[in-house]
Amino acid sequence: PKQKGWVGSYVYNYQGFWALPRLIQGVIACQRQFQAEDNDIILVTAPKSGTTWLKALLFSLVNRKKYPIFKKNHPLLVKNPHDLVPLLEQDLYVDGQVPDFSLFTSPRLMATHVPFASLPKSVQNSRTKLVYLCRNPRDTFISMWQFTNNLRLDSHRDTNSIEEMFDHFCKGVGLYGPFWSHVLGYWKESIENPDKVLFLMYEEIKKQPKIQLKRMAEFLDCPFSIEEEDCRVVDEILRMCSFGNLRNVEVNVNGKMSAGMANKNFFRRGEVGDWKNYFTVEMNDKLNYIVEQKFHGCGLKFVYI
Ligand code: A3P
Repeated sequence: PKQKGWVGSYVYNYQGFWALPRLIQGVIACQRQFQAEDNDIILVTAPKSGTTWLKALLFSLVNRKKYPIFKKNHPLLVKNPHDLVPLLEQDLYVDGQVPDFSLFTSPRLMATHVPFASLPKSVQNSRTKLVYLCRNPRDTFISMWQFTNNLRLDSHRDTNSIEEMFDHFCKGVGLYGPFWSHVLGYWKESIENPDKVLFLMYEEIKKQPKIQLKRMAEFLDCPFSIEEEDCRVVDEILRMCSFGNLRNVEVNVNGKMSAGMANKNFFRRGEVGDWKNYFTVEMNDKLNYIVEQKFHGCGLKFVYI
């Protein structure tokens, strides 16, 4: 089945989630060909949950010996996080291309938006670790709405009405939607298999960044040493990856991603609670009802402010 869903293009349903044909082809190629390795790290998000931020954080964390933070040649000062941590189905397995993994250093750091049930089997069967970042659905929706509108403005097309997009979102139609299935798939796996999936929340990283970054380091078996703590490496990584810093890096002000999107579109407000500026009472009631139905009893609580 197909539905109008993304910047005026149709999205199609594949294995229960929605995506553009090009992405679905990437997912299928990935499912067939990707061979996960035991020390791979795969970062996972539903779009607009803070992928850019998590990419920057994990890249700096995992490579901190190779690239000391804030040294002039640090890759994050000259490249956009999306060009440093490729998306499996969009950047690596795209248009029938065979990815060149020899360019990767170990551990390989990659990303995906694919729901848990549709991950390549080798990811599920290996010791590959998954770091999942979740964001509350109201801010995620507003971020997506704003993002698609900016893309439309870039290509001189009309913007989406918030009502129309909200209706799609509530029906679960949108890139990699339904949102709830995406979140629940990884949430359940993180409970059953905590060594495999680390479940993070955008709002918690905002509130307690140091604690959350240390959690990531421990989960990935690269905890901060006492010397590193003394040298304030944790603070430095957080400062380097902060919204204010990344947004002002030249490549993010004027650069474009390899996929052609302007880097600046990935740095809008970077806050919790922006939904309040857009949501009507009706929208709030409708989403609350859906969230209550979908997440009832699973133990996951979203933070909205
Ligand atoms: P807003 O649109 O609410 O500002 P993604 O990276 O998954 O596409 O998500 C984009 C959202 O993450 C945007 O949210 C963007 O501003 C926010 N973001 C990007 N970099 C960030 C950072 N370093 N810290 C916090 N939020 C960030």
